Amino acid sequence: MNIVILAAGQGKRMQSALPKVLHPIAGKPMALHVLDTARKLSPKNLVMVVGTGADAVRAACAADDLRFAEQAQQLGTGHAVMQAMSLLASAENNSATLVLYADVPLIAAASTGDVAVLTVEMDDPTGYGRIVREGAAANDGRNGARDGNGAGAIVRIVEQKDASPEEKRIREINTGIVVFPTAFLAENLPKLSNQNAQGEYYLTDLIALAVQAGIPVVSAQPADAAETMGVNSKTQLADVERAYQLRQARALTESGVTLADPARIDVRGSLRCGRDVRIDINAVFEGKVELCDGVSIGPNCVLSNCRVAAGAQIKAYSHIDGASVGKGNLVGPYARLRPGADLGEDVHIGNFVEVKASSIDDQSKANHLAYIGDAEVGKRVNIGAGTITCNYDGVNKHRTVIGDDAFIGSDSQLVAPVTVGRGATLGAGTTLTKDAPADKLTVSRAKQLTIDAWRRPEKKPK
Ligand code: UD1
Ligand code: CA
Repeated sequence: MNIVILAAGQGKRMQSALPKVLHPIAGKPMALHVLDTARKLSPKNLVMVVGTGADAVRAACAADDLRFAEQAQQLGTGHAVMQAMSLLASAENNSATLVLYADVPLIAAASTGDVAVLTVEMDDPTGYGRIVREGAAANDGRNGARDGNGAGAIVRIVEQKDASPEEKRIREINTGIVVFPTAFLAENLPKLSNQNAQGEYYLTDLIALAVQAGIPVVSAQPADAAETMGVNSKTQLADVERAYQLRQARALTESGVTLADPARIDVRGSLRCGRDVRIDINAVFEGKVELCDGVSIGPNCVLSNCRVAAGAQIKAYSHIDGASVGKGNLVGPYARLRPGADLGEDVHIGNFVEVKASSIDDQSKANHLAYIGDAEVGKRVNIGAGTITCNYDGVNKHRTVIGDDAFIGSDSQLVAPVTVGRGATLGAGTTLTKDAPADKLTVSRAKQLTIDAWRRPEKKPK
């Protein structure tokens, strides 16, 4: 089979500088969603028609198995398919061509027929092409293609802007998913006219041509109407996004994940969950995220490209990006784990603690207000409130090494490169510029003194 994806349209109704088909659903351009689906059908030829913002669309979609056809002027969907014909490998006589629209992103892999149209009934069909069928009484069965639901055979598709008031009342619409015999396309595309309300060559006019040629036109209905939602405006983009997210939320709950509210989770990538995972409201997952058995995610957390090992608890308002959270860790509330943060088992990272490119070994704790960057922290280390690794000298980054069982007093600055020995203690407020020896107390603060003779100034009475 050949697959042609139409992605050249202007998308005026989006009111955006970004080409319509690059607007994201779940963080991924619509066109890429459609490409994923197309690939599931292992097409012999996969072609995308580009035009508006062609360079950007090509750059976003480029792949070895995909060829592009350029539609210099957007003269309609029929004209768009015509631009792809030369790439459909000699239009072998009995091959079929499936047409997909890049602005119908949730479509699932559909099967083929002679001329087959995927249709759906919509409560509000405004904007879509309507499926005109022979009236039940008038149907003489010429096409022999009555649908299972007993409706008359398809006669033609009429676009919203060309439809009579009566036709506008038809609720069965064209999803835009159509399969044609390739040879039929080659023969009939040149016959299309643009004498219609939009002055475009409508692909959908091929249906009437097929009927006239006595080629059976069959239709199929998708199981889930959300699959066929088209995106022409930001409103529809938002509707499709919600439909997509709800579908992902359903898949998660079906697989045993507990969601506080399936309407308040956003997965923009892939989320893998073990058993007994709980996710509170407003969690956002980006890229590849893995939550192992028994993990709980508090409200308002953002997790990107990370792994959270079994039993870890991520508390409210935490932000985790490119980090690895260990077994049984307690993270947050308000924690920030940045790329390269690698936490061992039973590590505690508390509120307003930021960790970057650092390993923190088992049972170590940084519970309040700290920055740990480019550091190697051993086991059972206690990092006091306000501790900062001064890893940057304005030009280069330097490492801090803290041995097992060290105790870093509150409000210390570790000026890297520097090493704190095993079991060492730093007194509160230490500015460490030289290595601290193992098992000793190191303090750098000025000695405390009390001035006996000092008196507080007093206001003179007037
Ligand atoms: C189209 C169908 C309509 C259907 C609806 C489903 C036609 C004439 N109408 O209407 O029957 O109900 O989709 O969502 O086909 N495109 C090009 N080149 C062009 C014009 C469009 O590549 O010259 C591409 C667009 O990028 C888009 C797709 O074709 O991906 C559909 O075009 P659009 O203008 O959005 O058609 P609709 O009015 O939505
Ligand atoms: Ca559309």
